[in-house]
Amino acid sequence: MGIFSNIFGKSEPPAPPVDFSSVITDMHSHLIPGIDDGAQTIEDSIILIKGLYKLGFRKLITTPHIMSDYYKNTPENINAGLDKVREAIAKEGIEMQIDAAAEYYLDEQFLDKLKAPNVLTFRDKYLLFETSYINRPDNLYACIFAIQAQGLKAVMAHPERYPFFYEDFDEYKRLHDRGVLLQLNTNSLTGYYSPAARMIAMKLIDANLIDFIGTDCHHTKHLDSLFRVQNDKYLKKIITSDSLLNRTL
Ligand SMILES: [Fe+2]
Repeated sequence: MGIFSNIFGKSEPPAPPVDFSSVITDMHSHLIPGIDDGAQTIEDSIILIKGLYKLGFRKLITTPHIMSDYYKNTPENINAGLDKVREAIAKEGIEMQIDAAAEYYLDEQFLDKLKAPNVLTFRDKYLLFETSYINRPDNLYACIFAIQAQGLKAVMAHPERYPFFYEDFDEYKRLHDRGVLLQLNTNSLTGYYSPAARMIAMKLIDANLIDFIGTDCHHTKHLDSLFRVQNDKYLKKIITSDSLLNRTL
């Protein structure tokens, strides 16, 4: 140990960055080309999938938006797109397993889509949903009730990104108590979306309210941020938490 390490008190080397290999599965991304605001070409899909592999993931459940006004996706076109992505992965020789579900937007048509026999869920009947970022949806609890009444498990995408919850942190606890599972966007921890989303993300982790983490990867800017988040102490905290369900998928 040299004089400089004594002066600066650096007797321990910094902890190595965490990777996602213990998480195994990412359950939120936009990797099917040309059907939403994620990957636009199959080449984009492959770049993103190679990046996610490098981060340590070995299984992806990709979740295109289903939104009546903007992304009129259906189980049929999502599954057809999934086949193309699988073919490309095999051709490239990437050892990544990929399935598809969806990120359902809670709009007026949502309840009809929910009743369809081929509603898109993953693993243990988990249904991923998002809401407006601007207004607290009037139908939030009605939709949650409808999801659960159908025997499905409601998973709220990126709860830390909805500003209308920020004034009332207990709302997250109420949702969780109602059986809503909460999925944090890993990139919220870098401040990628906003400083407020980062603060709430940390608070949700401290309150043990996070059940899943997801990359919500749409493009290479998200990927760059994911490589940066690997040094974040809150990422380490959530990845080592027993409550994280990603590894059960
Ligand atoms: Fe998303």
